[in-house]
Amino acid sequence: MATTTAQPVITPQMRAEIEAFFPRYPTRQAVTLPALHIINEHLRCVPDGAIPELAQMLELSPAQVYDTLTFYQFFKSKPCGKVRAWVCRSISCSLRGGEEVLESLAEKLGIAPGETTSDGKVTLEFGECLGLCDYAPAMLANETVYKNMTADQAGALATQLKQQADGR
Ligand code: FES
Repeated sequence: MATTTAQPVITPQMRAEIEAFFPRYPTRQAVTLPALHIINEHLRCVPDGAIPELAQMLELSPAQVYDTLTFYQFFKSKPCGKVRAWVCRSISCSLRGGEEVLESLAEKLGIAPGETTSDGKVTLEFGECLGLCDYAPAMLANETVYKNMTADQAGALATQLKQQADGR
């Protein structure tokens, strides 16, 4: 009878990047968060299958890795879009129309907040204060900052987000 072996989730490249952190941290447990970011950068998510593999690398129990993973709501188990955009909904942005921007942007992208476009290009989410309160309402899309947005700009913003995804 033929048997199949599941491919590891953590690739040799990811493994090498994670191991490169070991000398820089006092314990392997302290590498948990950077390691999760490495996996997330490669896969745009942290699949469930990565948890036991990472636990083994870090000499931890899967539950310990899972605790860290779920403490930060940043990590998703299914892939996000190529561009992950957070529209701030904290007080300064909210008072200056951030929620209207988010609603208009979601409408232009054809999704609800928290969803990913069907072409896999953009995930749109609520975000908490981005430290850009002077430029409210603000949005972060991967590493790109958008400032002083208005709901009227939603169409142009949606186009820019898709173009940003095409460039990746
Ligand atoms: S409240 Fe939105 S960036 Fe601070």
